[in-house]
Amino acid sequence: MAHDRFTQLILESYFAEMQAHHHYMTMAQMAPTEEARQIMMMNAQDEHRHAEAFEKIYEELTGTEPRDTGMHMMPVNENMTFLDHVRMQLFDEYADFRKYKDMYLMTDNPEYRDTLFNAIHDEFRHAMLLTYLLN
Ligand SMILES: [Fe+2]
Ligand SMILES: [Fe+2]
Repeated sequence: MAHDRFTQLILESYFAEMQAHHHYMTMAQMAPTEEARQIMMMNAQDEHRHAEAFEKIYEELTGTEPRDTGMHMMPVNENMTFLDHVRMQLFDEYADFRKYKDMYLMTDNPEYRDTLFNAIHDEFRHAMLLTYLLN
């Protein structure tokens, strides 16, 4: 089934959020301090919530569940330090922050806009907290 652009972005975002959740759970295990661990756990929860919200939108738009498009959970690179992961995730947050703004402007549906607004806000908080951990 061919999706329109918005539906395709929702699908991709669902998988990206699942991936982000997985990444934060991995980082929580590597965290050097309790404070850093708690930040990772909080962000992981947010990403899981985003994934569920995008899943719901996708199901409303298509009447089907998101099917795996071949994206796989990223294997953990053993050579990367915790701060390497923080730096990598920071750029993902930055990219999502921009992407969700574009998606917000693509739809007039108020519920979808609320979901995207919440995600935009959360990704900004995540990026800010990751920046804090790099200092
Ligand atoms: Fe997210
Ligand atoms: Fe995030």
